[in-house]
Amino acid sequence: MLEIPLKLSYDDVLLVPKKAIVNSRKEISTKTKLTRNILLNIPVVSANMDSVTEFEMAISMARLGGIGIIHRFLTIKDQANQVKIVKRKDNLIIEEPYSVNPIKNLAELKQIMEDKGVNGLLVTDRENKLLGIVTNRDVKFRENDEMLVSELMTPRNRLFTGWEGISLAEAKDIFKISKVEKLPIVNQNNQLVGLITQKDIIKIETHTNATRDDKGRLMVGAAIGTKKEFMKRTDALVEAGVDVLVIDVAHGHAIRVIEVIQEIKNKYPHIEIVAGNIATGEATKELIEAGADGIKIGVGPGSICSTRIVSGAGVPQFSAVNDCAKIAQEYNVPVIADGGIKVSGDISKALAAGASSVMLGSLLAGTDEGPGLMIIKNGDKFKVSRGMASFGAAMGRNYRENKKVDKELEDVVPEGVEAMVRYKGSVKEVIAQLVGGLRSGISYCGSNCIPMMWEKAEFVRISPAGMRESKPHDVTLV
Ligand code: XMP
Repeated sequence: MLEIPLKLSYDDVLLVPKKAIVNSRKEISTKTKLTRNILLNIPVVSANMDSVTEFEMAISMARLGGIGIIHRFLTIKDQANQVKIVKRKDNLIIEEPYSVNPIKNLAELKQIMEDKGVNGLLVTDRENKLLGIVTNRDVKFRENDEMLVSELMTPRNRLFTGWEGISLAEAKDIFKISKVEKLPIVNQNNQLVGLITQKDIIKIETHTNATRDDKGRLMVGAAIGTKKEFMKRTDALVEAGVDVLVIDVAHGHAIRVIEVIQEIKNKYPHIEIVAGNIATGEATKELIEAGADGIKIGVGPGSICSTRIVSGAGVPQFSAVNDCAKIAQEYNVPVIADGGIKVSGDISKALAAGASSVMLGSLLAGTDEGPGLMIIKNGDKFKVSRGMASFGAAMGRNYRENKKVDKELEDVVPEGVEAMVRYKGSVKEVIAQLVGGLRSGISYCGSNCIPMMWEKAEFVRISPAGMRESKPHDVTLV
């Protein structure tokens, strides 16, 4: 007879309440690590799914202290552009600000502003010397499309500028005096080297918890696959400034994944790599030894996954996280519990089981920042959340790659579903609720931070009756 171990899901367990050591949830730290070298203020990562993370979600997640992973089902150019958009947000100094040549005309200027998504451009000559600035205000109500930028711009002699090495306080002083909104930074030769905007300063001062790189820019991750274009995609993402690459493979315990980790590490030793998805200690060990800086755990637990039904493979997520985290801790490498988180209590359980962060898909897909379509059904608002191995996602990829769709149809074996989730408003509010619940969970474990929770957490297994008792029951909800 085979010896078959029992493996558990989040709903099979509860945390044992221990003596609290804090008086208020505010005293609890949610600081953690995403990878060996990336620190987060909240242990939440938005999933690399096309209904969850594009640049809007990635910006909000980083501002809140977590991080977003931009999905890979975009052209290489589009994915790299999305990374660039995040890296340019909320910086004290935007390096290489967008600029325009003075001999462009109004029609061309409007097009450039639209393409770049900006409401102002610096005007420079061929040697990158600053000649002026042109903003929406200079363009509004102008109808002669032939007018030149040089005629529309505010010229250099009427501009306030900053210098290389300018501090936040000095920039704020200039804004106070000048009442301008944009401060170009020039070197001693009047060459443009950066731009500071009032808006960005306000953002920096508002989002004190944000996840930032050593230049103060928001951090962002991007997913890649393992097919032959992977290095081309990696090159473009690294060039765009990506902070972490996530190797996104449904069955990550694979020779090919190990080769890809090694090839990327050889070329870009400084880039952090998360590898996955896996569900066993053995896979954790092999991916870490290949060079992974973080491990993503989850084979089939996700809300939109059908991998376990279609293939018969997977490990219930609570045990998978625990098994993998035990091995990863020996190497001091953080693990991400990916998929199957339904409520904030599951986040507490995943972290207490040894994860350093959680990845969320459907829980975030219904927010304003999720790129999925809005659906109105019987007067209620919903948004799409779909598995990346669902039929619709596979068809979308085939269209994008110009494959013959009819021929490909028969080859698609979906391992995910297309679904909808309730519209939830801003991601900030959703995260506030989830992190509030986690703080409570940390306190119930008699601890005040995630590493202490790892040491002190104790679980009990519960029966279906215990689960029933755990939810509101025998009342009519209002
Ligand atoms: P949640 O439960 O947060 O799960 O919505 C998100 C995670 O689900 C994984 N994912 C898939 N798994 N088939 C699968 O078996 C799919 O089509 C699929 N799409 C996403 C992924 O790990 C994601 O982060």
